[in-house]
Amino acid sequence: MEPIRLQRYLARCGLGSRRACERIIAEGRASVNGSIVSEPGTRVGEADIIMVDGRSVTPEKLRYFVINKPPGTISVDQDIRGRRYVVDLIPGGREMGLFPVGRLDIDTSGLMLITNDGDLGNRIAHPRYGISKEYVALVNGGWSKKALIGASKDGVRLDDGSVVRDIHFLKAVPMGESTIVTLRIHEGRKHVVKRIFLALGSRVLKLHRSAIGGLRLGELNEGEWIEVVDVIL
Ligand code: URA
Repeated sequence: MEPIRLQRYLARCGLGSRRACERIIAEGRASVNGSIVSEPGTRVGEADIIMVDGRSVTPEKLRYFVINKPPGTISVDQDIRGRRYVVDLIPGGREMGLFPVGRLDIDTSGLMLITNDGDLGNRIAHPRYGISKEYVALVNGGWSKKALIGASKDGVRLDDGSVVRDIHFLKAVPMGESTIVTLRIHEGRKHVVKRIFLALGSRVLKLHRSAIGGLRLGELNEGEWIEVVDVIL
């Protein structure tokens, strides 16, 4: 193994996302060859002895799961009201050090990646990789694809003043008083799809993520998952 940054090494040991591992380092919980290291950039290699909270850690086999997150489950492990954490749908998920890549709202269903590979989150979220996400949204009101494209051609200004560009509306299918809209975005901001439609004057009634990059949910029903060898987006 080439020397790598300590936070990356810790992420490979199943200690959470790279950001979570940076926190571990900043909190002075990690040591290299017996000395506490609080500089995240420190490079470490195979010959080094790495410890966290006084216990030695070693890289684990990287595991990748694709799940269809059911509505009602949460993607952060900090709930005080006893709602189900999506990782718990995979038996032994916590013991394997798994965590979801990115977030979906509690009422959103669809494709999530669950892994112990702390680097994957970075790869997916970083604009450099330009990975898009596809959503299917049931929104109130009648919309045509043309009208959506027209309304967003200069970007959509959200409630905080920021502008989302590069929204690709792929389909708009009428359903009674509502419309089923399929769109692709490159954004990871909180509630972004709901906020885009609010800015356009509609409300999202139901939301589903159907793809991340080229990866699709396929035949998985809500709550079902499969393990894959690697993730190519
Ligand atoms: N946008 C939202 O509004 N919610 C999600 O869960 C994901 C994207």
